[in-house]
Parts: sequence; structure tokens; C-alpha cells
Amino acid sequence: MSINYSEKIPNNVDLANDKTLQRALEHWQPRFLDWWREMGPNDFASADVYLRTAVGVDAQGWANYGTVKMPDYRWGIFLADPTPDRTIGFGDSFGQPVWQQVPGEFRSQFRRLIVTQGDTEPASVEQQHRLGHTCPSLYDLRNLFQINVEEGRHLWAMVYLLHAYFGRDGREEAEELLARHSGDVDKPRILGTFNEPISDWLSFLCFTYFTDRDGKFQLKSLAESSFDPLARTCRFMLTEEAHHMFVGETGLARVVKRTLEVMKETGTDDPEAIRRQGAVDLPLLQRYLNFWFSSSLDLFGSEVSSNAASSFANGIKGRPDETTQYQDHVCAEANRELDLPDGQGGLKKETVGMRNAMNEVLREAYVKDCEIGLKRWNMQIKRAGYGFELKLPSNRFRRAIGAWTNVPTDLDGKVIGREEFDRRLPDWTPSASDRTYVKSLMQRVAEPGRMAGWIAPPDRGINNLAVDYEYVRLA
Ligand SMILES: [Fe+2]
Ligand SMILES: [Fe+2]
Repeated sequence: MSINYSEKIPNNVDLANDKTLQRALEHWQPRFLDWWREMGPNDFASADVYLRTAVGVDAQGWANYGTVKMPDYRWGIFLADPTPDRTIGFGDSFGQPVWQQVPGEFRSQFRRLIVTQGDTEPASVEQQHRLGHTCPSLYDLRNLFQINVEEGRHLWAMVYLLHAYFGRDGREEAEELLARHSGDVDKPRILGTFNEPISDWLSFLCFTYFTDRDGKFQLKSLAESSFDPLARTCRFMLTEEAHHMFVGETGLARVVKRTLEVMKETGTDDPEAIRRQGAVDLPLLQRYLNFWFSSSLDLFGSEVSSNAASSFANGIKGRPDETTQYQDHVCAEANRELDLPDGQGGLKKETVGMRNAMNEVLREAYVKDCEIGLKRWNMQIKRAGYGFELKLPSNRFRRAIGAWTNVPTDLDGKVIGREEFDRRLPDWTPSASDRTYVKSLMQRVAEPGRMAGWIAPPDRGINNLAVDYEYVRLA
């Protein structure tokens, strides 16, 4: 199904044939644009940005590149093509035909999931609202804006589902998605991580590496859903999402590269000496990784969850790559052993039904995926001849959701005393002085091809263009 760009709302869902839905969404559209103008990267509304826009939904050649002013970006509704005769891939209804409508008994569960996913999309745009002012290069500025417009598009994706399948409740939820704001005291975004402001680029790169990757895993498990329109929506979102994680992974690799250059030049790995040269010392990077990894782990929810169990049983949310990665798609009998805190400073083993452990299954798949970047960065460090190794902290470290909430542990997950934890935390997560230092690095570099001193240039430009292409023309 090709995308129709001649309509007010570009789409490949034949919107013109459903006048009621079309009118409702056309009513929501100006509100979205108001939100974008107010909460998006509004100081750059008149800049010309080299952006990609979806033109199709198949993996090859799905995007078009061109210069666009962000408020003119064509946000629309794009679903991956249906899989003929698709059947339910997991849970109690395994093997039955997928649903084209939401079954009444699962309506509120689906609605909550879609709203929670939808809420994160505009939240991240709000978190990054002022970041453009301190861009390390025009290449990076363009990537930030690409991500921002696509998160806006992901909001459209969820709002389409709410409008099309949830009637009046859905329309109300769509309004609320524009009314909550990241960090707002009265009406915050739903999930904690999405209320943390992202005011420096090191945080942004960690966010795209760790938090967007949570998004990838949530989308992957919703792409397995028995509710076919949701599955198709998420499948196409994943195509867009890949670039967001690319920005995080290559961005952090460029930070490491620059630091290694400075270490070579100065002949020392002393953090103070590295900082005098305006680069990010590796222990500082490690503390940023610890912070963002642990806060992103919370997004997967509690280790033991009856909600997760019923989502799986009811065919609402599967596991990432359900068909290819798992043998048992029903998991009615299977068990899972978990290490949980025993409340006395130790560990206890607990066996729970596999369905109840689904959050943990997802979290483990996520952690494995996170390891890939660390391996690459460590390879860079090793090749440069240094012994420093970046590491992910234990899943138990600094958790605010689930069994490990408020259980003080060290980076290896060993339970320690509260006092020791408080004393050592500034060595483990960015301290106030770390943040001040990182903030001092955030000086805007906006000449084509030039990079800030704390990050190396990328290996290549966007869409085969040169690195020194003028990716954003600031007005
Ligand atoms: Fe997204
Ligand atoms: Fe994203």
C-alpha cells in the first residue's frame, strides 16, 4: 500500500474512505502542530533541515531525503503491509487468526499500552526541546531534528490507533497526550525516565543509546501483538527507530574516539588532564552509562508481574522476535527462576511462572542488545592500547521499579549498606561537578564540517553526503 501524500494527513490506511475518522484526525492535527510549535525545537522553526520522510513502508527505499522546515514536515499514518493469513503467535489463543478489531474484554489493557507507548514519543521531544542551541556540529543537529520529527510521527502512529479503534475514550486519550508534558509538576509524562530533562548532548547520546533501545524492545514486542493494526504500526516504527539507536551508538563511539585521541596527545589518562583538553574522560563516560542504563532498565517494569502475565496470555504483548527466538509460544507450564532480594541484605531464588516473568525476559534481551555497543567501544579502547573497560552495571543497581527498588547495591549488584551506597554513589553516577563540566563543553558549533572538541567527526555523512555538508541552514 503506497503512501498518499496528496491528502492533508499523508497515510497508507485509505483514510479518505472513512470520513468520520478523517475528520476527527484532521481536528487533532492543528492541535498537534500547536504542540510542536510550543514544545518542540521551536527556536529552529525557520531553519532548513535535511530530513528524511517516509515514502513507502517496505524496507528498501522507504524514505526520501530533502530540505524541509520542521513545522512543514509531513507527519502521517504509515502501517507496514499486512502479512497474509497472519495468526496469533503466542499466548492462550496461539494459532488463531489475528484480530482486526480490539476484543471488548481486552480493550482497556490495549488502551493503556498504546497510551503509555504514545506518551513517550512527544515526551522525548519535550525533553530535548532546547538541545539544538548547544549542538556539537550541524551533522548532529540534523540528527537531533530527524529524531524529533520521527518521535512526533510515532505519536501520530499511536493517536491513529486510539482514534480508529477506541472511540470516544481514544479521542480523549489523544487530547491528553498533548496535555501532559515532560517534567510538568501537575501533568507529568507517565514514565519517570521521560520526565528527566536532557540538557546536554552526552545525555542525549546515552538517551538514544539506552532509552530509545527500550523503545525498540517495546515496539518489537508490540509488533507481535494479536491486534494486527497495532502490530503493523509498530513494525513500521521500528524501521524509523533504527536510526535513533544509530545516533546513540555512533555518537558514543565518536566520544570515545575523541577521548582516545586526547589521551594519546597528552600521554596520560588522568581525568583532570583530559578535561583540560576539553574531552570526556572515560570514567566520566562510565558514570553517564551507569545512570542512563539503570534508569532505562526500570522501563521494563517489575521482575514479577501479573500484568505482564495477562498481556502475554491474552495475546496483547509478546516477546521480541517471538517466532524466531522461542520454541514454546504458550508458556502455560514453563517456569523461570529469579534472583530477588531477601529483605535481609541477601539474595533468594524464587521460581515463578514464565508468564509472570515476561518483563524480566524482555529486560534480558534488552541488556544483551546494550552489550553490543560496549563491546565495540571497548574494542576501540583496546586497539588504542589502553586497558580501560566500559561496563554495564548490574540489573540490580539503582533501580526505582521492581524487586530491587531501594535496595542499595554496588555496580556488581552486591547488596551493601545504605550509608556506603550514599557515600559511593558520586563515583558511580554523574556528580554535580561532572555535570557542570559536561555543561561547560556544550558550546554550539554550527559551521559545516566542524566538530566540537569533545566528539570526533562521524565516519560518513547522511545519505551518502559529505560530513561537511550543510545539514541545517540556520535562518
Ligand atoms: Fe519513537
Ligand atoms: Fe526513538
